[in-house]
Order: sequence, then structure tokens, then C-alpha cells
Amino acid sequence: FFQAVASPPSSNFLLLGPSGAGKTAFTTLLEAKSSLASNKSHSTHTSQQSTLVTVTLPPTVPTGSNRYRSVNDPSLKEATRNPIKYRVKDTPGHGKLRASQGIAELQAMSQSKDIKTRLRGVVFMVDTAALVDEATLRDAATYLHDVLLFLQKRARNGSSSKRTTDIPVLVAANKQDLFTALPPGAVREKLEAEIDRIRKSKTKGLLDASADTELEDEEEILGNDEQEAFSFKLLEHEVGVKVDVVGGAVKGDLQEEFGSGVRRWEEWVGMCL
Ligand code: GTP
Ligand code: MG
Repeated sequence: FFQAVASPPSSNFLLLGPSGAGKTAFTTLLEAKSSLASNKSHSTHTSQQSTLVTVTLPPTVPTGSNRYRSVNDPSLKEATRNPIKYRVKDTPGHGKLRASQGIAELQAMSQSKDIKTRLRGVVFMVDTAALVDEATLRDAATYLHDVLLFLQKRARNGSSSKRTTDIPVLVAANKQDLFTALPPGAVREKLEAEIDRIRKSKTKGLLDASADTELEDEEEILGNDEQEAFSFKLLEHEVGVKVDVVGGAVKGDLQEEFGSGVRRWEEWVGMCL
């Protein structure tokens, strides 16, 4: 009779990013935090399939609809009793699986008309210790470029009368526990610069292909003005796709610096809810 009514998990988040970024480790940690079971750390290995898990938001993390919650707020008690659930889809990051898995999931989940299953946000995870390597940076930036280009097309195709809801992107700058890790600010700069290069070479390729004629399919290029250097700010301003770069760590002890290694990412999730 007094059985607690579990709130149905209704908000979906998609976890993308290159192989080895820590996506499955993150998903496993969220699951462990959500269950009463101890935080036993599972060993991860390269994923080949997407998996969907239901996890809970820590009650102390504010949500977008309840952003000014204080510790005395009765809604905190309610949140503790009946924590907010959300779902995370972990995808394999291997280059050969991106089109059929990560990008395919992005297309499918972002098209959902059902408010219950609509995509609330994309978490794009990167290994910040690995980005110093040119090839690794290029690979991560290429994947992120494709994700952002999809979201740009989606934002532009939405008719003004029936505006598509925004899907924000969190670049989760993981592995901040490693001393070789690039800080989030540097990760942002490197990704922006690399995406700018990708976009320029793509523009050039399209121009060459169409000979002297005007570039027709403007939508194929990320951002707006080819002259201006690409930045996430520009993308938000021109296209309305919001990108945040936030540092964290799934492993390692970052209590002092981060509260918990994934707290800031959970706060980002909370703001989307
Ligand atoms: P794919 O499934 O191939 O796409 O990779 P993935 O993104 O799921 O990576 P996974 O979670 O398997 O993690 C790769 C390795 O990074 C594992 O050995 C993790 O233990 C390690 N790892 C994940 N997060 C961190 C972190 O914050 N710090 C450190 N030092 N290692 C981490
Ligand atoms: Mg994985």
C-alpha cells in the first residue's frame, strides 16, 4: 500500500567518443553509484555493442527544473527518497563501429518524437592524456566534427514553427588524474583548432569538386563563415548547438579538486533535466 512509486526513467543521454576514452568505465561507475552495492570496479575492455543503463542522479545535484535547490529545501528530501533516474547509452568508440553504432544511435535517438525517450544530451568523452598525440587528436576531432555537423543539420532543418529541442553536448575531458593530462582549457583549444582544420579541408574539397561554381551545399560545412576560425562559442551563437568542455576523471582520487571525479558531469546532466 505504501510502496514507493519508482519514477520511470525518461531522459536519455548518449555517450560517444573515441575508443579508450573511458566511456564504459564511466557507465560502470554510474551504475555502481546508483546501486547500493559497493563500488567494486569492473575491468573494461573495448566495446563492440551499445548498452543502455539506467542510473540515478545524486540527490544533491541540482536539476534544470530545480536549480536553486538549497540543503533546506524540502524537495531535497523528496529527491533523496525518490531519486531522479536517467538513462545512458554507452557506444563503442572504434572507428569502424562509429557509423553503424554511435552516429546511428545519435540519428535514431534524436529523432524520437516521444517526449519520454527523447535525447536530452550527448556526452562526448575524450582521453585528455592521449590528445597530445597528433593522430589521436585528429581522430577525436573528426568524430566530434561529425557529431556536431549532424546536430547542426538537425538544428537548421527544424522548422521555425515546430522548433526542434536543443541537444547540448558535453565534452567530458576524462583522465584528469593522469599527470600527462591536458587541462580542459587546452583540450577545448586543441579540439577547436583541429575541427577548424577539418572544416577548412572539407570546404576546399567541396570547392574543388564543384570547380568554379559557388559552394552549393552550405549545410555540409560546420559553422557559418569559412573565414572565421571555428570555435564552440561560434557554433552556439551561429547555429544554436551548445558545447561545454568539463574536466573529470572516472578513475583515480580527485576528491580535493573535483569533489568526485564525475561530479561536474553529473551536474551537467542535471542541468539538462
Ligand atoms: P571503447 O569501448 O573501445 O570505445 O572504449 P571506452 O571509451 O569504453 O574505454 P574504457 O571505459 O574501456 O576505458 C579504457 C581504459 O581507460 C580502461 O583501462 C579504463 O580503466 C581507463 N580509464 C577510464 N577512465 C579513466 C580515468 O579517469 N583515469 C585513468 N587513469 N584511466 C581511466
Ligand atoms: Mg567501451
